[in-house]
Amino acid sequence: MIRKVAVLGSTGSIGTQALEIIHACPELELHSLLCNRNLDLLLKQKEQYAPLVTAIASPRGECPDGVITGPEILQKVIDGADTVLNAIVGSAGLRASLICRDRGITLALANKESLVVGGELLRDHISAGGIIPVDSEHSTIFRCLHREPRPVRSIVLTASGGSARDIPVEKLQTAGVDDILNHPTWDMGARITVDSATMVNKAFEVIEARWLFGGIQVDVVVHPQSIVHSFVRLEDGSWKALLGKPDMKVPVQYALQYPGRELELISDDGPLDWGTLEFSELDGRRYPAFDIVMRAGQDGKTFPAAANAADEVAVAAFLAGKISFGDIAVVIEEVLTGHEALEISDHETVMEADRESRIDAERIVRRLC
Ligand SMILES: NC(=O)c1ccc[n+]([C@@H]2O[C@H](COP(=O)([O-])OP(=O)(O)OC[C@H]3O[C@@H](n4cnc5c(N)ncnc54)[C@H](OP(=O)(O)O)[C@@H]3O)[C@@H](O)[C@H]2O)c1
Repeated sequence: MIRKVAVLGSTGSIGTQALEIIHACPELELHSLLCNRNLDLLLKQKEQYAPLVTAIASPRGECPDGVITGPEILQKVIDGADTVLNAIVGSAGLRASLICRDRGITLALANKESLVVGGELLRDHISAGGIIPVDSEHSTIFRCLHREPRPVRSIVLTASGGSARDIPVEKLQTAGVDDILNHPTWDMGARITVDSATMVNKAFEVIEARWLFGGIQVDVVVHPQSIVHSFVRLEDGSWKALLGKPDMKVPVQYALQYPGRELELISDDGPLDWGTLEFSELDGRRYPAFDIVMRAGQDGKTFPAAANAADEVAVAAFLAGKISFGDIAVVIEEVLTGHEALEISDHETVMEADRESRIDAERIVRRLC
């Protein structure tokens, strides 16, 4: 049966790879495209892949014929889809995930921020099997747990260490944008590349894993080669893992086809360059933001939403050359210190925490400039 896929964030790193996959898989059909403001690429994608609906959230001017915008676009791109790939970056992705929840539509979730800021709101959709993770670590855990009858002791997420891992600690505070965007193993969008260097991304992934695989202990280990994409440790003393090249097409394809058995080969299936596989503990001095965001995750309520908003503002300021790399952790910590957290009951509570935290973060950025 043909599966119609909505691609939200189609102009990004995950979105563009997803379009190649959909194009190559006869059982997948592109239903709709959505981006934020990159109209040029969106129009090229519309011409090449001919979706039913093409939408842009924040156009810089008039929308050309055949491209829609406005407050209802999320409903319009999602309506009629069987699977929604949410590859929007940031907390802006939560709304789309909630629409999928409300309509019982399968969500292939790359937008980890949906779970970081609003995991409570997606709990039922997770329990109903409505969320298939796209993050490579969570896709690995999902696959390792699939039909595994034995009890699980813990999950271990692997972390490459990002571009910060090879920069001397004393030089990290002032590391330049080009150095930080130069990820040693993965080719990703700008925000997640910076978040990998601070390890905010890994702390977000721990929060994401707690929601997806509730109740299981989650640990982190640094693995510079990015070949082992995480582990599951079973109570019988055995460990399971998934190995492969660092290639997001594998988890994206798995999520879009799940639970299908079709296999069109899209990723590089050449031999693995084993070299030496190394594993080590995370060095807290190198990654101070990791512990700060982990604490926000443990404190729950709207703390993770505040951490995410602070990080979005701080990363944008770093990329714009306004603050130093080391200041990212400072902004997050100060925002969290002043945050008055609320229990999460609805989308509006999350977005209010998001708005307030952005204002606080912008004020701190102005002071640090
Ligand atoms: N890249 C990876 O390898 C990777 C791996 C694991 C998880 N993820 C997760 O996947 C998500 C996307 O990451 P990415 O690296 O693909 O990011 P990216 O390259 O920066 O792309 C982000 C996409 O989101 C769109 N977008 C941003 N704000 C939007 C809004 N308000 N409404 C609609 N569309 C919006 C952007 O549109 P414009 O182009 O018009 O701005 C773009 O298409 C993130 O949550 C990230 O953590 C990514």
